[in-house]
Amino acid sequence: MLERVLPYAKTLLSQVISEGDIAVDGTAGNGHDTLFLAQLVGDKGQVYAFDIQQQAVEATRNRLKEHGLEHRAHVILDGHEKLSQYVEGEIAGAIFNLGYLPGGNHEIVTKGETTISAIRQLLDKLKIGGIIVLVIYHCHEGGKEEKDAVIQYVSELPQKYVHVLRYEFINQKNNPPFIIALEKVKKLPDSM
Ligand SMILES: C[S@@+](CC[C@H](N)C(=O)[O-])C[C@H]1O[C@@H](n2cnc3c(N)ncnc32)[C@H](O)[C@@H]1O
Repeated sequence: MLERVLPYAKTLLSQVISEGDIAVDGTAGNGHDTLFLAQLVGDKGQVYAFDIQQQAVEATRNRLKEHGLEHRAHVILDGHEKLSQYVEGEIAGAIFNLGYLPGGNHEIVTKGETTISAIRQLLDKLKIGGIIVLVIYHCHEGGKEEKDAVIQYVSELPQKYVHVLRYEFINQKNNPPFIIALEKVKKLPDSM
């Protein structure tokens, strides 16, 4: 069976994140992915989760608490484009669900410029073999612009340093989300 998009994002992350690792959730939202990452990193690992909305930070902290895992994550009320200011150490894997907070304000959305800035910082801090997973929702206002900007940026990354995958069902209606996954294969030069 062809694995669906959201389960496939988890499959990719679980292949590269193990106990004791550092992982990043670039868009904490309601905390589903932060919880998943917290389960992967174990008691010796750490998750850094970012969101610009207080509502999302609270929802994520509550979800972690319900599972007794709040000690495994830093839930940060700030943009993922400031990632380098918060995360120390090598990152094993990261996920971004782009778009708006389900059940929240649909006008507060991720944006191409800040998403690309975060990817750039992550590529610097990622372990060799580490993976960044982007789940790209693009139906909302501004979604197409973000999708186009991100695809242009990742398509131009030299394959010597980063392998870029697009995982997408191409015959589904209503523009379903798809995955872009980046695997760091070699340290990138400082100029990139
Ligand atoms: C699609 S939702 C994330 C859903 C989440 N993964 C979950 O499991 O519920 C996108 C989130 O990105 C957040 N966001 C928008 N711009 C951001 C930025 N620059 N940095 C961090 N989060 C941002 C929004 O506030 C929203 O909560």
